[in-house]
Amino acid sequence: MNFAIIGCGYMAKSHAAAIDRIPEAKLAAVCDKDESAMEQYKEYGAKAYTNYNAMLADDEVDAVCICTPASYHTVLVEQAAAAKKHIVLEQPMALALDETERIVEVCRENAVKLTIVHPYRFRPVVKELRKIIDAGMLGKISHASTRINLNRNRDFCAEAMSRGTKLHEAGGLMGQAIDYLDLFLWFLGEPEQVFSIAETGISNIEADAVAAGIIRFESGALGTIEMSTAVYYRNFEESITIFGEKGTVKIGGPNALSFEHFDVQHLSETETERILEIVKSDPWGIPGHEQTISDLIQSVKDNREPLVSGEDGKRALELVLAFYESARNNSPIGMRRGVLL
Ligand SMILES: NC(=O)c1ccc[n+]([C@@H]2O[C@H](COP(=O)([O-])OP(=O)(O)OC[C@H]3O[C@@H](n4cnc5c(N)ncnc54)[C@H](O)[C@@H]3O)[C@@H](O)[C@H]2O)c1
Repeated sequence: MNFAIIGCGYMAKSHAAAIDRIPEAKLAAVCDKDESAMEQYKEYGAKAYTNYNAMLADDEVDAVCICTPASYHTVLVEQAAAAKKHIVLEQPMALALDETERIVEVCRENAVKLTIVHPYRFRPVVKELRKIIDAGMLGKISHASTRINLNRNRDFCAEAMSRGTKLHEAGGLMGQAIDYLDLFLWFLGEPEQVFSIAETGISNIEADAVAAGIIRFESGALGTIEMSTAVYYRNFEESITIFGEKGTVKIGGPNALSFEHFDVQHLSETETERILEIVKSDPWGIPGHEQTISDLIQSVKDNREPLVSGEDGKRALELVLAFYESARNNSPIGMRRGVLL
């Protein structure tokens, strides 16, 4: 499958490297409004376009990776789907719920596959935890917590005009916490009610740089989130902990790639060691972008939904938007199967 990338900034590099590693994929073209941003893709033999429609008219291109700021995602998806290109879309999928609905709909109408990049789902530690939850080994889940305390407020936002702005990307809940909120949904199911406080705090960005939130899931489990992108000087922690009646498991450590705590009642010592060893021996595994793109190719071959679908991207965004609405109104927000109440 021949891929093109639109938006040749920071994330585009991961897409290009992933495409390069996949034997049945090739980077055929790149597009950016800034010509100089495309220079580095010459090494892949990719054609450079400053005009998106001209790139979409290129018959060699079968699929497009959309890596622009989120404010442009909807219109770029509409054009790519109309040109019958399959789509790999960076998160956040869009900035508003109606846009996510439009994205899913236009891909369905044009019979093109759409996958959203939530690369943490493919990490070995996350996959192992998911297997344990699926097997019911934690029993009924009482609560879960995620802590994302990073430093993103100075050089990171200065590098690109769009970062930290409400217009193009929103703040830390949207940009940095969304992958962990996606994991919350993947592990714990549908949220029923949320409450949050989100502020700029000590940061120099326009949008939220510190937030605290609570979720009640339909299962009865509670979730808490602590997020900051303005931690002094450097990243501090990323973690997610699940507390069940038959076990407690914490994913943490640098980049949240390891089990920091692992107590599962019905796993023998040998089985526990085997799982810990799988994660320890290869903490990153195959990069998430590579697995996302490989899965898109396979989903076209099998004519099935990609593993991370447009609906998944929409659910994660919905949760972020509910947090923002709760913070704005200083009140809890009810959620029922895709509807903010
Ligand atoms: N940077 C990160 O750590 C990170 C992590 C996860 C997800 N993402 C997501 O990836 C996406 C891209 O983020 P980034 O940090 O790589 O952005 P970036 O600002 O580094 O790069 C964006 C690129 O898109 C180009 N561009 C913008 N509008 C365009 C248009 N209409 N047509 C053509 N080119 C256009 C810009 O010139 C720039 O080169 C965003 O949705 C972001 O939320 C970023």
